[in-house]
Amino acid sequence: MKTAELRSKFLHFFESKGHQIVSSSSLVPPQDDKTLLFTNAGMNQFKDVFLGFDKRPYSRATTAQKCVRAGGKHNDLENVGYTARHHTFFEMLGNFSFGDYFKHDALHFAWEFLTGKEWLNLPKEKLLATVYAEDDEAYNIWLNEIGLPADRIIRIGDNKGAKYASDNFWQMGDTGPCGPCSEIFYDHGEQIWGGPPGSAEEDGDRFTEIWNCVFMQFNRDEAGVMHKLPKPSVDTGMGLERISAVMQHVHSNYEIDLFVNLLRAVARVTGATYSQDVPSLKVIADHIRSCSFLVADGVLPSNEGRGYVLRRIIRRAVRHGYKLGHKQPFFHLLVADVVKEMGNAYPELKAKQAQITEVLKLEETRFAQTLETGLALLEDALKDGGKTLSGAVIFKLYDTYGFPYDLTADIARERNIELDEAGFEREMDAQRARARAAQNFKADAHLTYSGADTEFKGYSDRQTEAKVLALYRDGEAVTALAEGETGAVVIDFTPFYAESGGQVGDVGYIFAGENRFEVRDTQKIKAKVFGQFGVMVSGNLKVGDAVSAKVDDAIRNANMRNHSATHLMHRALRDVLGSHVEQKGSLVTAERTRFDFAHPQPVTPAQITEVEQLVNEAILANVPVSAEVKAFDEAIKDGAMALFGEKYGDHVRVLKMGDFSTELCGGTHVNRTGDIGLFKIVSESGIAAGVRRIEAVTGLNALHFVQQQEALIKDAVAELKAQSAADLLPKIQATQAHAKQLEKALEQAKGELAKHAGAALLNDAELVGTARLVVQQLDGVDGNALRDIVTDLTGQGDNLVVLLATVQEGKIALVAGVSKALSKSVKAGDLVKTVAEQVGGKGGGRPDLAQAGGTDVAQLPAALNGVAGWLASQLA
Ligand code: ALA
Repeated sequence: MKTAELRSKFLHFFESKGHQIVSSSSLVPPQDDKTLLFTNAGMNQFKDVFLGFDKRPYSRATTAQKCVRAGGKHNDLENVGYTARHHTFFEMLGNFSFGDYFKHDALHFAWEFLTGKEWLNLPKEKLLATVYAEDDEAYNIWLNEIGLPADRIIRIGDNKGAKYASDNFWQMGDTGPCGPCSEIFYDHGEQIWGGPPGSAEEDGDRFTEIWNCVFMQFNRDEAGVMHKLPKPSVDTGMGLERISAVMQHVHSNYEIDLFVNLLRAVARVTGATYSQDVPSLKVIADHIRSCSFLVADGVLPSNEGRGYVLRRIIRRAVRHGYKLGHKQPFFHLLVADVVKEMGNAYPELKAKQAQITEVLKLEETRFAQTLETGLALLEDALKDGGKTLSGAVIFKLYDTYGFPYDLTADIARERNIELDEAGFEREMDAQRARARAAQNFKADAHLTYSGADTEFKGYSDRQTEAKVLALYRDGEAVTALAEGETGAVVIDFTPFYAESGGQVGDVGYIFAGENRFEVRDTQKIKAKVFGQFGVMVSGNLKVGDAVSAKVDDAIRNANMRNHSATHLMHRALRDVLGSHVEQKGSLVTAERTRFDFAHPQPVTPAQITEVEQLVNEAILANVPVSAEVKAFDEAIKDGAMALFGEKYGDHVRVLKMGDFSTELCGGTHVNRTGDIGLFKIVSESGIAAGVRRIEAVTGLNALHFVQQQEALIKDAVAELKAQSAADLLPKIQATQAHAKQLEKALEQAKGELAKHAGAALLNDAELVGTARLVVQQLDGVDGNALRDIVTDLTGQGDNLVVLLATVQEGKIALVAGVSKALSKSVKAGDLVKTVAEQVGGKGGGRPDLAQAGGTDVAQLPAALNGVAGWLASQLA
């Protein structure tokens, strides 16, 4: 049975049992769920339904869910490639009951699907089950109802060192829904090594868990306390790849139809020979799935969070390609194969195929540039036969060559080498401290230099031939920079723009033959001397070397688009808001432009729209952008905009964009305004009195922004079950109105309850002299309701004295009341004070109504008992 057939058979089985087929949710969990890195189980999208916070129109559901288990609580990354059944990405088939059926039906359904003639028809004697040790109910269902022999039902207790820490107690994360579970295992036969669950050999591949049936009963909070769920529920999960292996009579997930095709594809693009015995092929086949699906769901490689997990997976795959002897980019070529295998079940893959390919290609190309040098460094560190890799080397691999820690660990594992993890952590701490102290390379920009000036060629050229004039390491001039060292390079002709006028410095490379220095920033050391700051990523560089200097085109183009857009925006702001708009600061990077300007109040949405319109019109006019060096006075006479307080030389560069804008500017700009592409403002805020800040994006960044907004709207439409985006607002208004109504109804209901509670209390009143005394602790009633009850009670006669207390979250609230007529002789304020003093609080109020607080909950019963005596003494 093919994997695709199995997927749909499962869904249809549960549909026939009254379950709604629900689509897989995104691999990126909904924004408000901070407890999850990636979607890691079918139940994630139903978390709030289990918790009772959300309701669905169905109480039974079934899904085939995309899951990623890498980097979070359930992390399988390091096992991938080395076992028969671990994946970073897999599909989980599941059925769910939200307070509908429980253990009995869950286990009967599973059994019927697995063994039923018209379903999977698996031999019963191949199946085993585990149950949580205390779960007699599940045990008995297996034994007495289903008829599984006792020797194939295994009780597993808390085998992980704490209460509920067990293979048979499942929880989604450190907090959230959880419960005991019963797992079904398949015996692949004695020719495969391994033992049944609970035995010493359980990690072998003979007995594989194929289905986990969780009996959701609790919500675990941050303190580890288990709260009962509103209704006992069911959450099950069956790994599609594992059950496919069973159905296709193979013993490894990598031998199923889908994976055989992917492994062959990996062999094709890397030039390796197809084999089931080469872990690298499996690693790559696994990783291309997770990476493709993650990018399809909007995750991009980055240095933190989800993006860093993606980066780690891509880099691990690239390293395994290298291990197979393939040094050219290959990984992105596999996207088409994943789409072929899975695009029908997951249309988002097809839709985003081009984007996924592009993202992976860029990332692997970047890493390929440092991989080889990094590996050579590692070889060098190991050549004397040491068995431990030092923290310093692991750190250098990480920091200079972009080797994530787990990638180095992967290599170490192949060679039986230990990693000095503590040493690595120390290096990381030291780096964080350095970063805090120095912020960035700029601190280094005060370098002593007395040589010739730099000639900047970057207005016209992206690459120049040049000579190294000076080198720096740790702020000191040196004659050479060695591999791995960070420092600065001064060359005579440079295409690198040095940060100024708000535009950040260029990045790129300086080559001397095979030797390569990666430029990560460019800053002015002196007015006319540029320092290229960065890292010697391979070989070395000496003063006097002939070099070729090349800026990173993509980043420079993005910088230029944003800088040119800033000029147009400046002009548009003056047109829309008035000529008082004056630039107060700006920052132009590849990602965005940030522009600060004088304006007394927030820019309204309508004004923003107008500015966007004007700028985009100027872009579409596609006028040439020209620069001319002129005498300062002449430039001003010609109408160029100079910045107040800025120092200019006698000669200035005048940057002109048709009739739209003329400014004095030394920055780099596009050739024609049309090169900017779409311009979009993304935020407006105030940063000081009278100063506003606008951030905007251009080109592809603008497209990505619009796409993200669109995705948000789509999610909102789906979440609110609206027809379309136009339907959103009325839906939200209706939901809010409904919530208000409910709040009102709740308030009324509370009031009613309080009245009833009050009436009951009156019946229990105690006679003290001529007064009727009511003293009660009413937990779960808030302070306001308590006051209402007291007022209500004291109004029901002339001789009532009432003291009510409630304890909420360790705090005591007290309310005392006395009927008007009696309050001349017995004062509510005195009463509440006497009681409060005994429970560590104080308070007071009017003679007929008074309130107080307290904290000493243990003393409360005694204090309440003393009230009758106190009252008697007042009346005597
Ligand atoms: N949520 C359960 C699991 O992931 C079914 O194993």
